[in-house]
Parts: sequence; structure tokens; C-alpha cells
Amino acid sequence: FADDGSRLWLKYDLLADVQQRDTYLKSTQFVAANSSHPTIKVAVQELEMGLKGLLGKAPVLVQTATKSGGIILNVAPNSPSTLPQDGFELFSEKGNIVISSKSEAGVLYGAFELLRYLQTGKSLTNLSVKSSPKIKLRMLNHWDNANGTVERGYAGSSMWKWTELPFRIDPRYITYARANASLGINATSINNVNASSRFLTEEYLEKIKAVADVLRPYGIKVFISVNFRSPRTLGGLKTSDPLDPEVRKWWNEKTKEIHRYIPDFGGYLVKANSEGEPGPQDYGRTHADGANMLAEAMRPFSGIVIWRAFVYNADPKGDRFKEGYAQFKPLDGIFDPKVIVQVKNGPIDFMPREPFHPMFGAFPKTTLGMEFQITQEYLGQSTHLTYLAPMFKECLDTDTYVKGKGTTVAKIVDGSAENHPLSLMAGVANTGSDANWCGHPFNQSNWYAFGRLAWDYTLSSEQIATEWTRMTLTQKPQSVQKITDIMLNSHPIYVSYTYPLGTSHMMGEGHHYGPEPWLTKAARPDWTSIYYHRADSIGLGFDRTGKVSNALQLYSPEVQQLWGNAEKCPLDYLLWFHHVPWTQKLSTGRSLWDELCHRYYDGVGQVGKLQSAWESVKSDVDKETFEDVKGRLKIQEKEALWWRDACVLYFGEFSKLPIPKPLVPPT
Ligand code: GCU
Repeated sequence: FADDGSRLWLKYDLLADVQQRDTYLKSTQFVAANSSHPTIKVAVQELEMGLKGLLGKAPVLVQTATKSGGIILNVAPNSPSTLPQDGFELFSEKGNIVISSKSEAGVLYGAFELLRYLQTGKSLTNLSVKSSPKIKLRMLNHWDNANGTVERGYAGSSMWKWTELPFRIDPRYITYARANASLGINATSINNVNASSRFLTEEYLEKIKAVADVLRPYGIKVFISVNFRSPRTLGGLKTSDPLDPEVRKWWNEKTKEIHRYIPDFGGYLVKANSEGEPGPQDYGRTHADGANMLAEAMRPFSGIVIWRAFVYNADPKGDRFKEGYAQFKPLDGIFDPKVIVQVKNGPIDFMPREPFHPMFGAFPKTTLGMEFQITQEYLGQSTHLTYLAPMFKECLDTDTYVKGKGTTVAKIVDGSAENHPLSLMAGVANTGSDANWCGHPFNQSNWYAFGRLAWDYTLSSEQIATEWTRMTLTQKPQSVQKITDIMLNSHPIYVSYTYPLGTSHMMGEGHHYGPEPWLTKAARPDWTSIYYHRADSIGLGFDRTGKVSNALQLYSPEVQQLWGNAEKCPLDYLLWFHHVPWTQKLSTGRSLWDELCHRYYDGVGQVGKLQSAWESVKSDVDKETFEDVKGRLKIQEKEALWWRDACVLYFGEFSKLPIPKPLVPPT
């Protein structure tokens, strides 16, 4: 039977190894649960379905364990365990496997962990696992619109069927909930940050309630992205000024109304005064005024306010790199404790490689959440194979040095560096209505990797890739290794043929697909390409060390030292901070120009290697998936050439240097 990818990594196909199945069967004969909470019910259901599929025999469901050889689900709210609410323990005791947590959600996460053990061929003897999330709010941000489209979605239309809700519940909502719960994702904002006020109408609240009801048993809270102008557009008020008493009242009432539909409502996500969206600055107020007003409305409830820091000016002489920092820095310490400021991983906009956002580490009094983009707006969309765990980790593992060596971005985000009780990692979702959810079969791995890292950012990219491959594509060890290698090599390869050496923002206007380094005019100066690469007869790159922009000074002295000296700056970040002469010799021994050409050419060559590596796993993966990926790799090869030739020919007009031998110029 052909695999259409719709089951994601929760396939539960019969394990081929009979001996292994027999061993697993001995310790999974029954499932006993001490609770009939809806979350425990779905945990039991999942174990039943998973074990039946993987082992060919469903476990017997019992209330209490009277013998050994089974699985015990134990919700222990008063347990002396030091694990947090949604952490879990998975251990062997008296011949049984116990999954224990203070919360029902924790037990569900433990059940998925146990299934992952079977899916990845791990032993079930002498289990002694303690697992707890490093980040409290692990969230997907959907950029889905009421009309069924998805902003920057590359896998069909929206998975939310707004016209059918609340009457028809698409079964995919349940698969979605299971997939997220299997990773520990516990929150989702269901609509675009470029938000329509519609989502706050009674009509839509009924629909959102229906979704929230489906997701609740899986431990997932629903958030709504709100349009700041809603008091005017929906409430008929003359203003949306956050300091206006009528406006405040409107939000208080609206928040109460939402809770009548969704008592455990997660909260609001807000994009304000950014790219034309309304916000408090329209009334001479600050981001903090806006966020704190919503926090006040949320005061009687458990929910929070997530306020995005993605803001920038259209100043041709400015540096977009500094804008978020500049607008928010004076507000550090003013935000309500219920507010999390959500910051993109880098200072520009989800470029294939960015230095970490300088806000991380510079806002000790504000809870900063991380926003990654899972959907691949600038990373090959649904045609280039690009596994993102290494990119997410590169950012999280970078040292900010703000509290001495080891204060990584991850330690800022998990709240530990500055003792913040809340913490958030959000990922812009890549789901759509495509049969396989994400377009490119490998894009599923980025949803998976995001979730796994939000739970535990210390997991390695390799471990995550291997797990996903075994759960999704094949169990054959040699092919698992080859596919893991393909995945680990894929992001550096993509960067080589698109944005080598720290270049950025040279994509096609509007659609953001393919190269357009020559883009000189756009609706705003900071949407062009020349604003970023600054190519001229002397060299290439944006000098942020002081002459053009002093953005580097936003970082701690140690980071400034690392990136501030063009001779020593790691080449992957070089042109983010320096305008380097074409003829300047780099640490590789090549001149900038030769190195640039070399990387573009090498990137293309490496796509060929991805293709042959994929060819070599043909016999071990499902035929349909094999052909699907093969076809997309052909597109990737063609487009890698497109990027290479466009960029090399364009920059050659400035360098006036020949393409170095033995590279062959395009004809
Ligand atoms: C990018 C993207 C937009 C999106 C914006 C955001 O600029 O192209 O589509 O709305 O980011 O994050 O708000």
C-alpha cells in the first residue's frame, strides 16, 4: 500500500523483526490506568493503536495491574518527584513499565515516549527515564487566514476548515493534536499574525471553541492572533487607543466572552505596528501600553499575552538589524508579568543563516520568547530538502556571554539565565491541506525537530533526524544512516548555493522564492536586495562595525570580539558584519570573490550528491515517497543552478573578476 504521508511520524506499521516484536509483546500485554480523565483516555487509545499496529496485538485494557508484563499509567499530582507538572518518568517496576507524572498531559507525553522507544527499536528493559520540558510554552503559530489561504504556507490551503466549523470536525484535527502531543507541543495560535478581526466575532469564537475542544484532551491550548484595531472594527468605537477607558473595557469584555467559549483560553498573540498592521503607536502609545492593556484584560484568567518584536522602519539610511532592539529596549521592565515578547531568532527575518537576535540577553527584565519559522519561506519552500534542526540549534547554542560564558540563547529563552517563570518557543507552522501535511515529505521533519527541541534543546540534530527517519521512512540501519546524513548536510548545502558567507535577503520580491540580488526598488527600501548585500566595486557585505551601522555594539563585548574583526570572524557570518574587498584573502586561502564562487559552485555540486545518496536508499523506502523526493531533488538541482548563476553573474558585474578555474562559467 502506498504511503501518502498523512500519518506523519505516527505510522505504527508492523515491525518487521519477529523476535523484536515478541520481546516487546512480553512487556506490553496490558495497559492499566488510575484515571479516566480525557487526556488519560487518549493516552490509552494511543497505546492501544500504537501497540496493535507495531506488534500486531493490542494490549488488554485493565483498571489495575494484578500481574507483571504490562504498562501502568499513573497520574500522581502529589508525588514528591522534583519533575515539573508536565514532566514524566518512565521506569521498570516489578516487571511492569510505569509511566508517571504529576499531570495527565505528562502521562500522555510519556506514552508517546514509550511508543517512540518501540518505533526506534530501543530496549524496554530496566527503563529509568526522567524527562521534563526545558520550555514551558511549546507552541505552533499558524499563519492561516479565514478565507482558507495560508501566508507563507507551501502545502496547500489551510488545515482549518472555517466554513465547516463548528459543525464538522475534520478528522485531521485529531491527527494534528496527536502529532503535536507526541512532541510535547502544548499551545497553538490558529490564525495569521496579520490578523483579521473576524476571529473575535461570535461566529468565529464558536468555530475556535470547536477546535479547542478537540485539542484539549491532548494538552494543547488555543491562542488567537488579534488585530489591534478590533475595538473600532468590531466594537464600533472611535479609537483603539490602549489608554482609552472604553477601549480597555472593550478588551476586558471581549476577553470574558472568549472565556465563556474557551475556559482555558491560552491568550493573545499580537503583531502590532509592523508591516502596516495597526498598533498602539498609531495613538502615540508604546508597545508596552498595548501589551499591558491586554494583560490587564487577561488578569482574571490563566492566559497570557504574546507580543511580537518583529518591527522595523523603512529608513534607507538606517539598519533594520537594530530596529526591534531600539523600539523595545526602553520598555524593558515595563511589561506586565503576563506578557511575553516574542522575538524572531535573528534580527532581520528568518534568513537561512542569521546571527542571533541582539535582543536575546539584553532584556533582563522581560520574558523573551523565541520565534522560529518552520515553514520554509526563505529555505526552499516545498521543493528544496532542508532539515532545520541544525539551524535552530546553531541559534540556541550560541553564547550571548551576557552573564558570563555559557549564557547561551537557549538559557535566555528557557528563563534560567534571568529567572523568569514563563518561557516560550514558538514555530511558524508548515502545515496545510496537502495529503502529507507539509508539501515536501522531508518538511515534516522540521515540524518534528521543532517540537523535539522545544521540549529539549540539548537533543542533537543527528538524534532527531535518526528518530524521525526510523519513525517515518525506514528501519533499515544503512538507509537510516544515509538519510540522516542527507538531512544533516542539507542546510549547509542550501546556504552554499543561496546565501554563502553571511549574505542575506536577496530573494525574489513578494513570493520570496528564487534569487533576485539585483532588486533595487521595492515598496520600501528595506525590502530591496541592495540594502542588504551592499555590493560595489570594492567589495561585498554590510559593515556593521561602526562605519555604516554600529549594530554589532548591541552584543556583549565577547560577541563583538568574535564577529567584529573581519580577519577572525567565522566565514559563515562574515558579510553580516563586514564589507570585505573582493580581493581580500580569507582564512581558506582564497580571495573573497574566489571563495564566493567556490561556495556557490560547491553547493550545486553537493545537490548532486544528495541525489545519489537518495538513489541509494531506493529499495528501503516506500515507492511513492521515493519518487516524490526524487522529483523534488531534480527541481532543487535546477534551482540551485539558478541561484548560483544569478548571484555569481550579478556580483561579477561589481567584482569585474573572472570565475576562478576550475569552475566553469555559465554559458
Ligand atoms: C515576513 C513574511 C510576512 C510575515 C512577516 C511576519 O516578513 O514575509 O509574510 O507576515 O514576516 O513575521 O510578521
